[in-house]
Amino acid sequence: MSEIATVERLEVRGAKGQWWRSAVIYQIYPRSFADSNGDGIGDLGGVRAHLDHLAGLGVDAVWFNPWYASPQADAGYDVADYRAIDPVFGTLTEAEELIREAHALGIRVIVDVVPNHCSTAHPWFVEALHGGPGCTTRDLFWFRPGRGASGELPPNDWQSIFGGPAWTRTTGPEGTPGDWYLHLFAPEQPDLNWDNPKVREEFEDVLRFWFDRGTDGIRIDSAALLMKDCALADFDPADPPLPHPYEDRDEVHHIYRAWRTIADSYPEPRALIGEVWLPDAQRFAAYLREDEIHTAFNFAFLGCPWDAATLRAVIDETLAVHAPVDAPATWVLSNHDVPRHVTRYGRADTSFTLDYRQLGAPTDHALGRRRARAAVLLNLALPGTVYLYQGEELGLAEVEDIPDAMRQDPMFFRTAGENPGRDGCRVPIPWSGNTPPYGFSPPGATGQPWLPQPAGWRDLTVEAQSGNPDSMLELYRRALAYRRRQPALSDATFSWLPGPDAVLVFSRGPDGAFVCVVNVSDHPVALPVHGTIVATSDPMEHDRLPPDTAAWIAIR
Ligand code: NOJ
Ligand code: CA
Repeated sequence: MSEIATVERLEVRGAKGQWWRSAVIYQIYPRSFADSNGDGIGDLGGVRAHLDHLAGLGVDAVWFNPWYASPQADAGYDVADYRAIDPVFGTLTEAEELIREAHALGIRVIVDVVPNHCSTAHPWFVEALHGGPGCTTRDLFWFRPGRGASGELPPNDWQSIFGGPAWTRTTGPEGTPGDWYLHLFAPEQPDLNWDNPKVREEFEDVLRFWFDRGTDGIRIDSAALLMKDCALADFDPADPPLPHPYEDRDEVHHIYRAWRTIADSYPEPRALIGEVWLPDAQRFAAYLREDEIHTAFNFAFLGCPWDAATLRAVIDETLAVHAPVDAPATWVLSNHDVPRHVTRYGRADTSFTLDYRQLGAPTDHALGRRRARAAVLLNLALPGTVYLYQGEELGLAEVEDIPDAMRQDPMFFRTAGENPGRDGCRVPIPWSGNTPPYGFSPPGATGQPWLPQPAGWRDLTVEAQSGNPDSMLELYRRALAYRRRQPALSDATFSWLPGPDAVLVFSRGPDGAFVCVVNVSDHPVALPVHGTIVATSDPMEHDRLPPDTAAWIAIR
């Protein structure tokens, strides 16, 4: 089956024939999705065995977190070979099979590209290290002499996003200390020098490599961090030229223009999806200009508290930011870097920022799940692309009691445990059975799941929830099926309608054929419109919509 023939069979819905403008994209964290060979780590065989779950759920595409050859110092975001699959996950042949099988089920495939940094095990870095000062391969990275009398201090005061200094000192063959290299994340993730044309050529080739294998798009990791100010000046918080000296430099846009040309050169253009984590709305929108990337994650929505006025403000701002550049908005409640939203919504303070994870805060999981049910109906009713993170369709909560000895996230280690990190949202997901590994690994597996699963997940497995109309899984299935059928939900129109206090009411479609009502108040309300109720997140109470509940209404 040729790659182009396969892609052409996929349905193109949404405005402008660009499927990503209204797609539902399911995020697969390969380590934690399903383990086919019993070593306790998810793999491509596990994904292939469960593609029916994704087809049954009704998603349009899947995004894979990195599956490349990697020492796994940051769960695969430390890439040693961008063209090879890590043996723990499988082989390139299996990846190609998986892409074909997903396409045959009408599911598109997005891979994660990590351009800001590679791994210390990448051949370039190995060569740069061995070549010593003066070796030209060092110019692919940021090697610098240290400060202080004998170079014992880092070249500047930048801090790693994972904690601690952003520089690590090299050691020569005889153990003599040498130059330092820059890493905005873990020391195992040296930053690449994007001023060097060889780095640019390499990544353009990596893009073609995956597009030629039929992948339908890429998710660009840390997309705003690539270009550094080569002066490498200390960070001056009183006078930041930009959010950080390593963030959002103008030159970065040249890179994405070149990538866009490559993405557009395919018979069906490939999608460019950016992880652009910038607080400034205008700077964010600049990445979504006509000849740059297509869409970017909506971190404002991801961290938005469960509060009507704030939700409304974030929705308004999101639509306002995307409109001038004619890019589709995106909506996301959870991902592999943030506490699961069932937990977030079950706390007194339902907001989230990267520095404010509130792990261990008292949590009412029943309330969190109720809000999560309402939130997904809100999410799926908004105009644009929706991202779902594996396990949210099961209503999984953050796992907060992982013993320190079993934690894996470098963030935990680099902050000496002060920040517990991201392991709690990465626990292998439950498929079936009453006890761990809940079908994650096959019977007779030799390895335990790489992070321990809670004892109480028996009722949250795919098996336990399937066929139970009250389950989170069946709510997701119903909602996704309806979203596909309702044309008003795949165009870009959106209007607020009047409603009671703390109740979000909006219509979709040019003639307002669809209305979503979300009751974020603390009391039941009458529905503010007449029509046919096609879905509710929880049952109505005597014709009233209870608190923390959403309803979908077909008007005609
Ligand atoms: C963002 C990714 O989402 C995160 O998981 C990773 O640790 C960093 N980029 C570094 O690659
Ligand atoms: Ca495995």
